[in-house]
Amino acid sequence: MKTQATRVGSVSDHRSTADSELGAKVVSQPAPSPHAGGQPILSARGVRKIYRTGSHDVEALRGVDLDIGAGELMMVMGPSGNGKTTLLNCLSGLDEIDEGTVHVDGEEIHSMADAKRTQHRAERMGFVFQSFNLIPVFSAIENVEIPLLVGGATAKVARVKARDMLDRVGLGDRGGHRPTELSGGEQQRVAIARALVSEPAIVWADEPTGNLDSHTAEAVLELLGEVHDAGQTLVIVTHDRSIGARGQRLVQVRDGSIAYDGPPTILENA
Ligand SMILES: Nc1ncnc2c1ncn2[C@@H]1O[C@H](COP(=O)(O)OP(=O)(O)O)[C@@H](O)[C@H]1O
Ligand SMILES: [Mg+2]
Repeated sequence: MKTQATRVGSVSDHRSTADSELGAKVVSQPAPSPHAGGQPILSARGVRKIYRTGSHDVEALRGVDLDIGAGELMMVMGPSGNGKTTLLNCLSGLDEIDEGTVHVDGEEIHSMADAKRTQHRAERMGFVFQSFNLIPVFSAIENVEIPLLVGGATAKVARVKARDMLDRVGLGDRGGHRPTELSGGEQQRVAIARALVSEPAIVWADEPTGNLDSHTAEAVLELLGEVHDAGQTLVIVTHDRSIGARGQRLVQVRDGSIAYDGPPTILENA
């Protein structure tokens, strides 16, 4: 299938070559997942989310089923207010769900105790938000250290890793700056450093370039591209069709449901 990752695809190609070398002894193998080699890293079933706000309830997710393959680059698009952010928050365990299950690496995250879910998230997931969401009273390097400290790293190890990560995003000399002393693009690079520092299996980016000019947005996308090249799973919500077209898989969210799930080629002629 076209949606298959180039890199992940080549891995599974190797596997099928190896299999065929075994010749006729290989009896029909189960078909590989359409989206990546092997098991999905995340598997959501029947996920419902209802916001209860005084006078009326909003059903923001209406029973979503979704598998995300390890190493996949998935783009999420859809009109504003249709549930993209809710989807990310519910699949990552940032927010509670009303019904359904979300398994990450085989573990159901919504049935974990809060403390365990927080730790699981700190170790396995990274987040990049449109509004950066840095902690204003912390310096850049302190912001980057947070997931490591939550994950149980010592202060010393966290400092070294955070400094390396800031170097990687080109902000090695800005570690002592508070977020307000940085430009929007620099703040988002700090946020990316924070998202990546614990080498999470899944990185969620919710309109990561929404507040950036096109030049800065490109630099941020390049950094996120490196995440994918490193084999991490990357889910990006975007309004921008030209960004959406760069994924291997496009999921369109409409009114709390998945209206389309397939190759992003449909963006070309729409
Ligand atoms: N905290 C909240 N409380 C009540 N309603 C919410 C809340 N967050 C989102 N919603 C509603 O849920 C729906 C989906 O919102 P959201 O997931 O933010 O959409 P998107 O990210 O696609 O713009 C919208 O109708 C929105 O108004
Ligand atoms: Mg949103």
